[in-house]
Amino acid sequence: MSEPAKIQIRPNGPILVSGNFVLLDANGNPVDVGGKETIALCRCGHTKTSPYCDGSHKQCGFQPNDFAQ
Ligand code: FES
Repeated sequence: MSEPAKIQIRPNGPILVSGNFVLLDANGNPVDVGGKETIALCRCGHTKTSPYCDGSHKQCGFQPNDFAQ
């Protein structure tokens, strides 16, 4: 039995998703994540590989004003 999904918000960075998850696009269709067990979703809005984090949050100095900083 696989691990349940775990979602972790990284300080000033992406949202890590791991475990047994399905990523859906804006139309609700499953997205092929290439068999990855962990993905990092951008939350700064500066990635060039949306929806995935490409590290751009470091260059833009992303500092969210939310509970999960
Ligand atoms: S959170 Fe990493 S590029 Fe946006």
